[in-house]
Amino acid sequence: MIGVLVSGEGTNLQALVDAGLPIAAVATNRRDARALARVDVPAASFELADFEGREARDAAMAEWLKEHGVKLVVLAGYMHLLTPAFLDAFPDAVVNVHPSLLPSFPGAHAVEEQLAAGVAESGATVHLVDEGVDSGPILAQERVPVLPGDTAETLHERIKSVEHRLLPKVVGELCAR
Ligand code: GRF
Repeated sequence: MIGVLVSGEGTNLQALVDAGLPIAAVATNRRDARALARVDVPAASFELADFEGREARDAAMAEWLKEHGVKLVVLAGYMHLLTPAFLDAFPDAVVNVHPSLLPSFPGAHAVEEQLAAGVAESGATVHLVDEGVDSGPILAQERVPVLPGDTAETLHERIKSVEHRLLPKVVGELCAR
């Protein structure tokens, strides 16, 4: 059973839903995340301000997911780093999707930074999550061209259309292992 962590729009969550993957629960660090409206499964928000700190928040979030039978966690646009309090509860079972060809351009502003750097090629990466910023072992990667006149919006949309194919494929394979 899959637990999905979201912070924003949730188009990757939608792709997991559309692929028919077994989503047991959705958690967010932002209770106003639009992603929450995309699913009809148990959902809960774990806003940092409601806890003593990141470790306490992450421990509570991990416990809640486990209570819902979650074995594999997918970060689908989840914009906070996870502490060992969370990662140790799901060893080698937390994956993230990121809009660049990692290890190039990690971080929250990857699309803007790739455009500013003038790269000819971007991409989408699915990787296992560790404590670092988009630094865990890479599971799958696909190239995406940068086109003349691209803005951050047009490039990000092109990358996301690849993410929406790549993420469900990798997650499906992990579920089958
Ligand atoms: C995606 O580009 C993902 O790679 C990055 O955040 C974005 C989330 O988009 N980590 P959405 O919320 O799934 O629409």
